Amino acid sequence: MQITDATHAFVTGGASGIGLAIASALAAAGAAVSLVDIDAAAAEAAAARLAQQGWRAEGLALDVRDRDGWQGARAAAEAAFGPVSVLVNNAGIAPDGQKLADMTAQGWDRMIAINLTGAFNGVATFGGALREAGAGHIVNVASMAGLIAEHPGLGAYAAAKAGLIAMSEVLRSEMAPHGIGVSVVCPGMVATSLADTTAKITGVRRDGDPSLLARGMAPAQVGREVLAAIREDRLYVITHPDRGGPVKARFQAILAGFGL
Ligand SMILES: NC(=O)c1ccc[n+]([C@@H]2O[C@H](COP(=O)([O-])OP(=O)(O)OC[C@H]3O[C@@H](n4cnc5c(N)ncnc54)[C@H](O)[C@@H]3O)[C@@H](O)[C@H]2O)c1
Repeated sequence: MQITDATHAFVTGGASGIGLAIASALAAAGAAVSLVDIDAAAAEAAAARLAQQGWRAEGLALDVRDRDGWQGARAAAEAAFGPVSVLVNNAGIAPDGQKLADMTAQGWDRMIAINLTGAFNGVATFGGALREAGAGHIVNVASMAGLIAEHPGLGAYAAAKAGLIAMSEVLRSEMAPHGIGVSVVCPGMVATSLADTTAKITGVRRDGDPSLLARGMAPAQVGREVLAAIREDRLYVITHPDRGGPVKARFQAILAGFGL
């Protein structure tokens, strides 16, 4: 789709990292952006920084698990900037590193509720209106972990992200006849504060090398690639093509099962 000054993007987890980078790329291209986040103060501060650059942005509070909250955030966003035409389901938490046999049911449920059902809640809130409008785009931020689901300690995260990829593929088929594009973003490591925001939200911090994320790709690059994918209506947004080896091996093993 074309990004114009009539475009209004609703970006969950928009207060920081990849969400803020996607919102910034869209705002720089002319869109108005609603940054919605469980951390309302951070969302408002981020929106104020974008507004200082002359872009149209506002910050709103939303926990993507809260279905009533979605309706309120939609009403507030649309009162400010008109109908939402781009939905970015980006809010997410990091894996806690627990093996599936050891993780708590609470940890599993929280991961699925935020990283998978949170995106469904977005589609349930905006999907019907987008379909009626006949133009727009939905972006779901998944992960490379949804394509290479083998690493110990990533079970719930990988399951949520693989589910989000599957959901995006079905959604694309369902929405295409109505002029709505769908993209799913599958990044490797990106330099964000995901470990810190997750610890704040869940009280859980995964053991491991804290500098791993910091060595990742700049979020702005992900933002630029997502903007291009929206414009070109591309389904898969693969930001780390150098990580393709294990994906190829996985698909070859699946194809071998079919004798192909
Ligand atoms: N950083 C990476 O290496 C990486 C790689 C692949 C995928 N991702 C995905 O990218 C997305 C964005 O993460 P990020 O790396 O930019 O981290 P981030 O912590 O900078 O951004 C995540 C944002 O989501 C918000 N959030 C968390 N739970 C929420 C909830 N229940 N409701 C509303 N907002 C909530 C946080 O407050 C935070 O602002 C996540 O879905 C993550 O799984 C990140």
